[in-house]
Amino acid sequence: MSHKERVVLAYSGGLDTSVAIGWIGEQTGAEVVTVCVDLGQGGEDLETIRQRALDCGAVEAYVADARDEFASEYCMPELQAGGLYMDSYPLISAISRPCIVKHLVTAARQFGATTVAHGCTGKGNDQVRFENGITSLAPDLKCISPVRDLAMTREFSINYANEHNLPIETTHHNPFSIDQNVWGRAIETGFLEDLWNAPTKDVYNYTDDPTYPPLPDEVVISYKEGIPVAIDGRPVTPLEAIQEMNRRAGAQGIGRIDIVEDRLVGIKSREIYEAPGAMALITAHKELENVTLDRDQARFKRTIVDQWTNLVYEGQWFSPLKRSLDAFIQDTQQYVSGDIRMVLHGGNAVVNGRRSETSLYDFNLATYDEGDSFDQSNAKGFIEIFGLTSKLAAARDVKFGRGVAMGNSKVY
Ligand code: ARG
Repeated sequence: MSHKERVVLAYSGGLDTSVAIGWIGEQTGAEVVTVCVDLGQGGEDLETIRQRALDCGAVEAYVADARDEFASEYCMPELQAGGLYMDSYPLISAISRPCIVKHLVTAARQFGATTVAHGCTGKGNDQVRFENGITSLAPDLKCISPVRDLAMTREFSINYANEHNLPIETTHHNPFSIDQNVWGRAIETGFLEDLWNAPTKDVYNYTDDPTYPPLPDEVVISYKEGIPVAIDGRPVTPLEAIQEMNRRAGAQGIGRIDIVEDRLVGIKSREIYEAPGAMALITAHKELENVTLDRDQARFKRTIVDQWTNLVYEGQWFSPLKRSLDAFIQDTQQYVSGDIRMVLHGGNAVVNGRRSETSLYDFNLATYDEGDSFDQSNAKGFIEIFGLTSKLAAARDVKFGRGVAMGNSKVY
């Protein structure tokens, strides 16, 4: 074992993190161990990325296929929560960081590292998610960001890679900053920074243009305790469910999102997301909850999920409060089982059928036809008591001349 300090670096295989391997070594004197985690982002295979890391000077290169882990332990809790940040964003990048963090900590332990490095800038949420995640799991580890802390600009990276003959493309200019995994894709910067600019076709990759969709696609998704377990009757794993729905909802242009978002660091930023599978699965799951959750439990869940979503967005995946809220959300899911039928077409996923053994829908209570078992005569007394406190207050207001003003509309 060498006596040099070791740094584990979250490695994507791209230009910046490839340059960071050598640059961290030069700046800190430490050896660099890279960590690359497959979350279903596609692109190059892990072995190619591993070899590039070693060619760029890493002493060890850890790679992990975490696609099933990510789908089951991060995407599924997000689906069960149904958490949409600012009512729109299904937390694509936010849920991926804690999964990467777990592997960074595992690698740090395995290779005897004292520090974790990541490629984030100082302006975004991801730096917070990485560093908060690391210190929540391993309080002894230190964190650095070469882009933020070691003055690693884009231009510097290009020059460095050329001077050192690193086996990485430096001429290709990507017009956007993109982060993607099986749960979706986040696209920002470039001409999107002008809020008035509409996204162009090249922004999208997981979804086809919904303007000219193929024929409608009807799908039946079966859930067990809030987790998709079959599609059109064929059993699927969580990963397969997301992948299949990405394909089918993506073909219909479902799940495109264009919002101005409040970042944790206080900046508002323009974000384009595409999450076809995630949005279709969330839509179906929400409707199954409508059928199976108790009314008060559902109302309370909404307030919990609001908190949960903010915590996850703000990098508190491993926090005690998040853990407590998880316990509540998990408990709500015990009867969220059954089938949802949906039509995917032209950008929309529309539910048109539901059935569940654990449903709270009682046909005989709901029906206006024969077989009604709801005793309407009870409603009169119920309303009298339910409205009693408002009635008493209103009578007092009248007595003191403060009755609620009636509308000013002319009555004919
Ligand atoms: N704004 C989104 C979030 O905070 C997306 C971040 C995407 N990251 C990136 N490096 N492009 O979750």
